[in-house]
Amino acid sequence: MSQIGSRKVTMFCGKGGVGKTTSAAATALHHALNGLRTLVVSTDFTPSLRDIFEIDSPASPAMVTENLYLEEISYDVVKQLWDQKFGPQVYGLFSTFVDIEYQEFLGYVATMLPGLKDEFMVDYIREVSESGRYERVVWDTAPAGQTLGLLRMPSLVSNHLKPAARVYSALKATGNLKRSVLGVIQDWEKLSNKDLAFLREEVQFNLVTIAEALAVRQLQDIFEEFRSYGLGINHIVINQVVEDADSPFLRSKAQLQQKYLAEVEGGYGTRSTRVPLFPFEVRGVERLKEVERRLFSSAP
Ligand SMILES: Nc1ncnc2c1ncn2[C@@H]1O[C@H](COP(=O)(O)OP(=O)(O)OP(=O)(O)O)[C@@H](O)[C@H]1O
Ligand SMILES: [Mg+2]
Repeated sequence: MSQIGSRKVTMFCGKGGVGKTTSAAATALHHALNGLRTLVVSTDFTPSLRDIFEIDSPASPAMVTENLYLEEISYDVVKQLWDQKFGPQVYGLFSTFVDIEYQEFLGYVATMLPGLKDEFMVDYIREVSESGRYERVVWDTAPAGQTLGLLRMPSLVSNHLKPAARVYSALKATGNLKRSVLGVIQDWEKLSNKDLAFLREEVQFNLVTIAEALAVRQLQDIFEEFRSYGLGINHIVINQVVEDADSPFLRSKAQLQQKYLAEVEGGYGTRSTRVPLFPFEVRGVERLKEVERRLFSSAP
């Protein structure tokens, strides 16, 4: 149980369209208004942070307002950053293998790259957090399926290590082993453990949902998946709750939500916060302040 934003890094996850980006933007604004230098960063490859803050500047990070900076990580940026950090090492390693076990190594590379892209994003957030450039980092993620891929990285890495071990023994048999091979594999393992420790110790996880059957049914799975990685959801944001039901349509919608609100608020032993369904588009700092007020009104 914890308050939103209680750790240095605050992550928002959940299924598509429930309000992750809105919650992340409002949380980042909250920190910035409290005088904390804050970065709001999105690892969704179809991001909407710039749109929500109405920022045209292509700068990265772009300044939103005092103390608040925004960054959207695209697939190309991840590829580029990955190349910068690991490229020479990995490609150097490839060239060691080219003469032998080439097919097997191609297979190895194919299984390795998608997982490393996810891992790299966690690693990137960790680096930003540790760099000291910001006092708070708010992390907006892609819809649930992809997000949980991020958490799967340690098992991905151990899967990568299996074919690597086969290549390793083949090399050993031919006497072609370079010490660097094992070193690189060990480095990856170390990095993976470091990133997992970062997720466990530095990141506060918020699950955003809406009071509807499909969204609520998925919560259990998300909770279990987090648990299976030794991580926990710290807070639930229940978004788009109908408050002022002044028409038959809204009254009916509000009534439908009651059952799901009771289920979410009573069923997980996790602190939760309601955010109302607003009658306006949540765009721009002034509108986001209304979300901020609701997200943090019950803060101790
Ligand atoms: N409480 C609210 N009241 C009214 N509109 C809202 C509310 N919360 C979010 N919205 C609107 O719903 C839409 C989806 O919100 P948002 O982009 O934050 O969701 P998301 O979970 O980040 O979506 P995606 O999965 O596509 O990234 C946006 O148009 C947003 O303005
Ligand atoms: Mg979003």
